[in-house]
Amino acid sequence: MLKGRDIIDPEDLTKEDVEGLLLLAEDMIQRPKKYADVCKGKLLGSLFFEPSTRTRLSFESAMLRLGGEIIGFTDPDSTSVKKGESLPDTIKTVASYTDLIVMRHPKEGAPRYASDSTDIPIINAGDGGHQHPTQTLTDLLTIKQAKGEIKNFTIGLCGDLKFGRTVHSLIKAICKYEGIKFVLISPEELQIPEFIKEQILDKSKSEYKEVERLEQVIGDLDILYMTRVQKERFFNEADYVRLKDSYILDMDKLKDAKEDLTILHPLPRVNEISVEVDSDPRAWYFRQMRFGMYIRMALIASILGDEEC
Ligand code: CP
Repeated sequence: MLKGRDIIDPEDLTKEDVEGLLLLAEDMIQRPKKYADVCKGKLLGSLFFEPSTRTRLSFESAMLRLGGEIIGFTDPDSTSVKKGESLPDTIKTVASYTDLIVMRHPKEGAPRYASDSTDIPIINAGDGGHQHPTQTLTDLLTIKQAKGEIKNFTIGLCGDLKFGRTVHSLIKAICKYEGIKFVLISPEELQIPEFIKEQILDKSKSEYKEVERLEQVIGDLDILYMTRVQKERFFNEADYVRLKDSYILDMDKLKDAKEDLTILHPLPRVNEISVEVDSDPRAWYFRQMRFGMYIRMALIASILGDEEC
């Protein structure tokens, strides 16, 4: 049961919790009407201190589809944050009006810090280059839909593995599953941080290798998880410009890929997947963003603890 729990990090969910959420989300896809009122009378606080399209709108549409309502902001400068109000005071304020808070923040650790200020549940919707646990749930639901089960595959994670919070969270969650091999594809400057290798991959005895060229490994992959080189995480514009087009997936590169490759991307994309790939049946990234709404419906309903969930 997830009733009343904070979801700050993928490790806040056991494998059994995740399995339960995936099953519930799948039932919500099949029978959405059954869940149309499960959050009636409940209010979600949607606090986005950093831009978002998919995460915010999928959380908000999830709450509305469950019969609940939403308050919140997308621009902290329109709130008393602009006057110097602290994060704990902002959270205490919103918590006094709502039943559940979803927050995105540019600072790593801000959702954990926020959760110390209130007893109502907090969901991390992405904190800096740290974690994005609900994107991971979205990714797992998409993998299950595409492959039928989450085990025995080789996944290539490509792009900005240093600052990419979606990649950090996905590795944490997926290394708990059987028979997963990781191929970490990045330029040297954007390699996966040492702490992920030591504390997650080595500790879980996961098989992984690091390479710089996508072409070198694309034919080995069952899943290719592309990511954006994130301008907002660089301290130096010149480094961003040098690295931003390191990987561009196009139909030419896909000639060497498996027929049943699943291409994922948390989105937004900039240049890293050519538009020509969108119509290839192996492209799952637009389906992936819709699954994000269903898994967030399952998460909200479970945390707010309706009897039927
Ligand atoms: N995947 C994701 O987090 O997208 P947004 O930044 O648009 O929310």
